Order: sequence, then structure tokens, then C-alpha cells
Amino acid sequence: MHALKLLLERQSCHALQEPGPDEKQLELILRAALRVPDFQNLKPFEFIIAEGGGRERLGALMQQAACASGRPQADCDRAARMPLRAPLVIVVVAKARASEIVPLFEQQLAAGCAVMAMQMAAFALGLAGVWRSGWPMHDEHLPALLGLAPPDRIVGFLYLGSAAKAYPPAPAPDTGAGAALVRGAMRIEILRASDHAAWRPLWEAYLAFYNTVLPDDIYALTFSRLSWRWRQLMRLSASPPRGPDKIFNSSCRPLPLSWR
Ligand SMILES: Cc1cc2nc3c(=O)[nH]c(=O)nc-3n(C[C@H](O)[C@H](O)[C@H](O)COP(=O)(O)O)c2cc1C
Repeated sequence: MHALKLLLERQSCHALQEPGPDEKQLELILRAALRVPDFQNLKPFEFIIAEGGGRERLGALMQQAACASGRPQADCDRAARMPLRAPLVIVVVAKARASEIVPLFEQQLAAGCAVMAMQMAAFALGLAGVWRSGWPMHDEHLPALLGLAPPDRIVGFLYLGSAAKAYPPAPAPDTGAGAALVRGAMRIEILRASDHAAWRPLWEAYLAFYNTVLPDDIYALTFSRLSWRWRQLMRLSASPPRGPDKIFNSSCRPLPLSWR
């Protein structure tokens, strides 16, 4: 599968059935996890793989945790069956290593990347899966029951198997609300000569604030110094660019162009 096709079309599948990954596929899935971005190559994760009867064992521990944590009876009853929703469940644990360079959070992010990498590898292999959390991910008793100790942290339960029914292709990421988010991204750049006119409202507001009037050539001179010599002013614009929305001093927080 083409890498970009995988990135653009991957999707989760909640209804999973046999077959799960075979030995060879599982090895590839785990190897994908070992290639995630990993500062200092700490491999700050561990995978607990439950399949076959192992899922019942995991379910029993989830049930024990639910009861110990005083969860509602419905959760305790349901917990034992949760891992049975897929042929194979990988409990992904952020296992922080001692490091003076890589903070705990960054190590946990790498573990999160591992969940994603494994899901994508499974998808590329024609399998299906879903990253789940729910209360078990945040439960205070489950980690100890799984033999984990702080600061170990469960970052996900990756349910893997085959899609139980055909699901429609994922909506293309270039439409809908997600695209609006991307379009809303802001770009911070050095002020450009082409921002000359856009800077005027800020300049005028500045002069008005100090009850000052200055000739136009001072405006032009000041702008050229700011944009080309001192590189003091920054522009903040929407992406894709449609001209600056805000112009600000590089040592200050942004001010809207309409600022008075
Ligand atoms: C950290 C994390 C935890 C999640 N936990 C759950 C969950 O417990 N239950 C669930 O239905 N979806 C959960 N999701 C969302 C699914 O994994 C999935 O992304 C979602 O159903 C959307 O499907 P898509 O990946 O095809 O867009 C979680 C996602 C993340 C990143």
C-alpha cells in the first residue's frame, strides 16, 4: 500500500472478528512500533499482547480492577468481556526510561506514536483495528494488576482483527471540518516588503495613540527598516496565505491589525 494512501485513507474499525494477525503479521506490526520517532532511542514502551485465552485473563484483570475501583456493577460485569471484542488486543504501555534529556511526557508521546504505527501497519496488511481507552486506561488498579509500576502508563488498548463487515471509505481529509482546522493554521514569518500597506493601520493606530502626526516618507522609511534591516516585526497570517492578519514585534505578543 502506498504510504500516502495509507495516511490519507486509514480508518478505525470497531466491529472486529477472526482472523487476527498471524505470527508474521504480528511481527511486522510490532516492528512498525519500533520505528516511531523516539528521542534518544529509549524505546519507552512495552506491549502486553492478549490473544486466545489471554484475552480472558486480561478481562479477568480488568474486572478485578473495576471492582477494586468501585466502578458501577455494569462496568464490573462488562469488563471481563471487553477484550473479547477482537481476536487480539495489545495493551500499549508507556514505560518511561531514566533520562536527563527526555522528559516523561515526550516518552509517553513516543508510546502513543507506537499505537498509531501498529494500527497503520495492521491496516496496510489488510487487517482492521481500533485504538481504545475508556476507564481501563485511567484506572488506578489495573496497572499494578498487569505488573506495572509508576511512572508506567497505559496509553491505549489496540484491538486488532478483521473487519466484521465492509465499512465505507473514510471521508477524504480535504473536505469538511478537519480541513477548516488546517486552513485555520497560522504561519509566523518575518515581515515582508509586500506587507507595506497592511502595516499602515497599525502604524496609524500607534501614531493616534501618541497624538502624533508624521509624514508618509517616515512611514516608508520606518517600514523598510523594520522589515529589512532589523527584522524586528513578524507577521502572522492564515494558511494558505491571504496576507497578514496580525503584525507584531518579535519580542511581543501579536497585536491585531485593527488594534487601537
Ligand atoms: C487515545 C485515544 C483513545 C481512544 N479511545 C476510544 C475508545 O475508548 N472508544 C472508542 O470508540 N474510540 C476511541 N478512540 C477513537 C478511535 O480510536 C477512532 O479514532 C475513532 O473511532 C474515529 O475513527 P477513525 O480513526 O476511523 O477516524 C480513541 C482514540 C484515541 C487517540
